[in-house]
Amino acid sequence: MDSLSIKGGVPLHGEVTIGGAKNAVLPIMAATLLTAEPCVIHRVPNLSDVTFMAQILTSLGASVKFDGDTLALHAGKIKGVGDYDLIRKMRGSICILGPLVGRLRRASVSLPGGCVIGPRPIDLHLKGLSKLGARITIEGGYVRANAPRLAGGDVFLGGRAGPTVLGTANVMMAAVLAEGVTTIESAACEPEVVDLANFLKGMGARIAGAGSPTVTITGVKELHGTEHEVIPDRIEAATFAVAAAATNGEVSLLGARPEHMHAVLDKLREAGVRVERCGMALTVKRGGRLKPVDITTLPYAGFPTDAQAQMMVLMTLTPGISIITERIFESRFMHVSELARLGADIAIEGPSAIVKGGRPLSGAPIMASDLRASAALVVAGLVAKGATLVKRIYHLDRGYERIDDKLKSLGARIERVEET
Ligand code: EPU
Repeated sequence: MDSLSIKGGVPLHGEVTIGGAKNAVLPIMAATLLTAEPCVIHRVPNLSDVTFMAQILTSLGASVKFDGDTLALHAGKIKGVGDYDLIRKMRGSICILGPLVGRLRRASVSLPGGCVIGPRPIDLHLKGLSKLGARITIEGGYVRANAPRLAGGDVFLGGRAGPTVLGTANVMMAAVLAEGVTTIESAACEPEVVDLANFLKGMGARIAGAGSPTVTITGVKELHGTEHEVIPDRIEAATFAVAAAATNGEVSLLGARPEHMHAVLDKLREAGVRVERCGMALTVKRGGRLKPVDITTLPYAGFPTDAQAQMMVLMTLTPGISIITERIFESRFMHVSELARLGADIAIEGPSAIVKGGRPLSGAPIMASDLRASAALVVAGLVAKGATLVKRIYHLDRGYERIDDKLKSLGARIERVEET
């Protein structure tokens, strides 16, 4: 398994282009199953999760062709049974369930397991699809859905931790081909849900209210092919913004969409980081002394859980106490023990991490545990004095396109150590 070897202490300077959003492109790829006509997607990031979704779609009978960051997909004739082991490996693959139910009225998709960031139930996805008339059973590790008649209905998708992003995507994708009107209440408002809705509308779907808690979908008989450009990845942009501030550098994020990043930019500014919009770029630099901030992760437009670990690194560098509370995924503090190896002083109290910041970090061998924790460890390595070896970085390749090359172009001393 590859590692990243980092020599810390170099402020990042320069420009970096933000790629397409992982969490938008995965459901959009799945949505191409809804039509027998070809679709083209632009600004597709080169990520292992994208390759993985391409394999899943291929295993269902679709043709998938990459040409740089453009992806041509054609789900002419497809089957409704997904490959058990392929699907089980990636949590995001659950979003093929809605399109299969919509197009074929039946689906067998292996049940995604939990993961290191906590249990990942899909009860809300199943509740939503049942409300549209799907009969759902769990057999042999598969979710089996059968919907001889799929009809619109009122679906409430609020859960213990608020709305569900992929649950909203799944219900939306089934409802576009259901008879009549579906109203989703407590729908997820994330920009990735809006991007999916725009893609579906490009296919001829009738959807109103995406981006608000109430989404109304009027089913149509069939959808057609379309062409779409994926939104830039707000979490990749947040990660580079934090890295710029943490290393005391200055980085322009080309293509970043500040309107998708209000909560992150607000907290960065509160922490004393300067963020300015210059044309199509966002420029981030430290404005002076860092200030501690308290953060609670929430559904959009609140502070994203996917940027919590990275922001924690910035707070370890900030003199004073910052309290970071995780409200979306209960175990999403795997980075804390690894940051402690670098010298960070962080205590976990229930859902909160109490960060006593301001102690210098020094390099050490550390282990990546999940995607965003890995990104945080890399940012910490960029700051820590001496050498840091971040092991098991395959998690990073799931969600960050060539992060080592991008960081190198900003001046970071970072090398990929390939292991055979
Ligand atoms: N939940 C339920 N029941 C459900 C579904 C979710 O209780 O049926 C709970 C979850 O346990 C969690 C909360 O609801 O406490 C929110 O989960 P959500 O369903 O919104 O997460 P998701 O759709 O599975 C997507 C992203 C995650 C991101 C979350 C929250 C993709 C592929 N994944 O997951 O991204 O953290 O939304 O914004 O879109 C990442 O990119 O690193 C990542 C984990």
